[in-house]
Amino acid sequence: MISFARGVPAPECLAVEELADCARAALERDGRTILSYGPGGGYGPLREVLAEQHDVEPSRVVITSGSLQGFVFLAQQLVQKGTRVLVEAPTYDRPLKILSRLGAEIVTAPMDEDGLIPDELPDGDFAFLYTIPTFQNPSGRTMSVERRLRLAEIARERRLLVLEDDPYGLVRYDGDPLPSVFELADGEQIAYCSSFSKTVSPGVRVGWFVLPAQLAAEIEALAVSTYISPPYLSQATVHEFLRRESFGPNLERVNGLLSERRDAMLDALTREMPEDATWTKPAGGYFVWLELPSGPPSSQLLAEAEDAGVTFVKGSDFFPGGRGGESALRLAFSFVSPDEISDGVGRIGGLVRAAAPAAL
Ligand SMILES: Cc1ncc(COP(=O)(O)O)c(C=O)c1O
Repeated sequence: MISFARGVPAPECLAVEELADCARAALERDGRTILSYGPGGGYGPLREVLAEQHDVEPSRVVITSGSLQGFVFLAQQLVQKGTRVLVEAPTYDRPLKILSRLGAEIVTAPMDEDGLIPDELPDGDFAFLYTIPTFQNPSGRTMSVERRLRLAEIARERRLLVLEDDPYGLVRYDGDPLPSVFELADGEQIAYCSSFSKTVSPGVRVGWFVLPAQLAAEIEALAVSTYISPPYLSQATVHEFLRRESFGPNLERVNGLLSERRDAMLDALTREMPEDATWTKPAGGYFVWLELPSGPPSSQLLAEAEDAGVTFVKGSDFFPGGRGGESALRLAFSFVSPDEISDGVGRIGGLVRAAAPAAL
């Protein structure tokens, strides 16, 4: 099976030997701390590095077991049955599931090619707005700087808490990095989270949140009551990776490997898709969002594609209640090789053309 479903780095992205060295070095230097219980907010030295990067006090940084765990804590703290939460449409499917499980009323905010449209945010009170401004999962779209500034302004005016989820910001293949909404807003009304999953390794399970002081303390308390202490060995391993300045060169290597895959995906789509198909052309991240207006519904296409040995995630999975994205596909190019990408997109293209020969 050629998988365009997995938002996972290709195995060759993972710096196995070097991380093994880092784990050993971290234990040798600080083993007695790392191997014990400690603060719920994370390994102190890593917290300090992250706090410095974001120009906040370390107590406002909470390191969680992957950023998704932090999302669960934040949602548990802010959401009860019937609490209204704003999300982009489409958005990352796992937060949708977490919010539904907690009984949230999920309200969608429209997007276009430039990301979320701040001036079209629905009125009303919301516990928070969840947004992925850079190389969004699932669409690959990036919010323009103008809109980031406008979102920061609206968040302040409406006293709306915005959670900016930014795991892909550094996974950039071309163009210049954009300032985060958090930076543009000077942190006001903006909570920020990111992760080492896409820049170092998902298996280390190290993500982090930068939160208003009160919320940081509450999330830290939730972490303590859930797992007492986070896995310091992972966090200290990542800290050592940063300390010996391996992060930058590794990121450059990873981005090189992934940009070849992004290029293979865009080339294959140009070659294989019918004229009326459209797709995003992300400058980074893991995903392309493909719309097939005259193709079969993506749920049907998925069943046919799996029979033909290819898989992807159907667009409707990224809308609350599955309402939307019926003719869209999320294609992750991060995991498979460039040759498999070409082959897999060719197989999907064959199915699309067979279903809608008139659109050719
Ligand atoms: C937008 C987004 N947020 C969060 C995550 C989860 O990251 P982590 O591995 O840090 O839990 C992902 C993973 O795919 C993601 O795409």
